Amino acid sequence: MTQVLTDRFGRIHDYLRISVTDRCNLRCVYCMPEEGMVFEPEDKMLSFDEIYEVVRVLAGYGVRKIRLTGGEPLVRRHLETLVGRLHSIRGIDDIALTTNGIHFASRAEAFREAGLTRINFSLDSLREDRFRLITRGGDVNRVLQSLEAARRVGLDPIKLNVVLMRGMNDDEIEDFLRLSMEEELHVRFIEYMPIGHDDHGWKSRYLPLGEVLRRCEAKGWAAQELDQEVRGNGPSKNYRIAGAAGSFGLIHPVSDHFCQTCNRLRLTADGNIKPCLYWSDEFNVRSVIGDDRKLAELFFRALDVKPESHEMAKALENERQSHTPTERRMSQIG
Ligand code: GTP
Ligand code: 5AD
Ligand code: SF4
Repeated sequence: MTQVLTDRFGRIHDYLRISVTDRCNLRCVYCMPEEGMVFEPEDKMLSFDEIYEVVRVLAGYGVRKIRLTGGEPLVRRHLETLVGRLHSIRGIDDIALTTNGIHFASRAEAFREAGLTRINFSLDSLREDRFRLITRGGDVNRVLQSLEAARRVGLDPIKLNVVLMRGMNDDEIEDFLRLSMEEELHVRFIEYMPIGHDDHGWKSRYLPLGEVLRRCEAKGWAAQELDQEVRGNGPSKNYRIAGAAGSFGLIHPVSDHFCQTCNRLRLTADGNIKPCLYWSDEFNVRSVIGDDRKLAELFFRALDVKPESHEMAKALENERQSHTPTERRMSQIG
């Protein structure tokens, strides 16, 4: 290997999150506006060949882990083919998917065969009516079926992403904790982030995750922090309740950020490198695909402007928060 992807602060980047589409079959309240969004035209999206080229080059610079995200990645046709191609690249040993799970069940086998190693499902409520409300129309039973299918084909660990929102799903904290006790799952509570929106609703819904540990204690459930990582090297801090079959994790970008250990680079569906989720800097890869040296240089340039950390916590202090520095929403970043 020539060189690893290190930034000005000595952080090594071995994890690339690739958004394969900005489209989604749902419109979760914290992610998309009710009226939906203007999607990028299909011809602006990177093709599978282009994505393959980027990953092939980056594997030579120490990238080991790929996560396919969206929007909803399964909206992109024949995604299994991309997984198969990425799986064939030497050095890539983890290919994971973050999905809403609506369309996964019938394709679980094909993904597994193609080389998918792990899966994270977004699941913000276990209650049918509430799930429909949060996702603006989704059916929670389809996600639960997908979860079963993932288990059947042997994906392990299976993680659930629960974005906590005050007054919306915080009364389900105990239910999700119980789920982590009863089933071999990893439930991750996530702080609601002010990403790309001028959102006054955000502040009233935001809930720091200390609440999860308090509720756990109030129930008399002893949660031990896990030394050993639950497979994956994302930003979650992990725990297990004594005697539980599964575990739970806390992802708290706002109340206690984890930027000092950031190992992530992002590639948007329209081909922009995003060195940090929060800031607006982007670098388009399209014109340098085909020239391995220039492509690698562009990633190093992106790393040169990667900031030390985001400033989400400041948004809590400001009386009237306007834009976060990036205007892209999570569904456009991944
Ligand atoms: P694992 O590899 O399984 O650990 O996955 P992951 O946690 O890296 O990926 P996932 O797509 O499931 O992301 C879960 C949540 O982590 C997202 O909803 C974000 O809230 C948060 N997250 C992931 N990456 C970043 C990041 O770079 N910065 C911040 N602030 N939050 C992030
Ligand atoms: N804050 C926190 N998490 C978010 N996600 C989408 N928007 C936000 C937000 N504003 C989550 C989704 C998915 C993951 C990729 O990001 O629920 O699980
Ligand atoms: Fe779709 Fe995920 Fe955004 Fe929900 S959070 S609207 S599932 S992209």
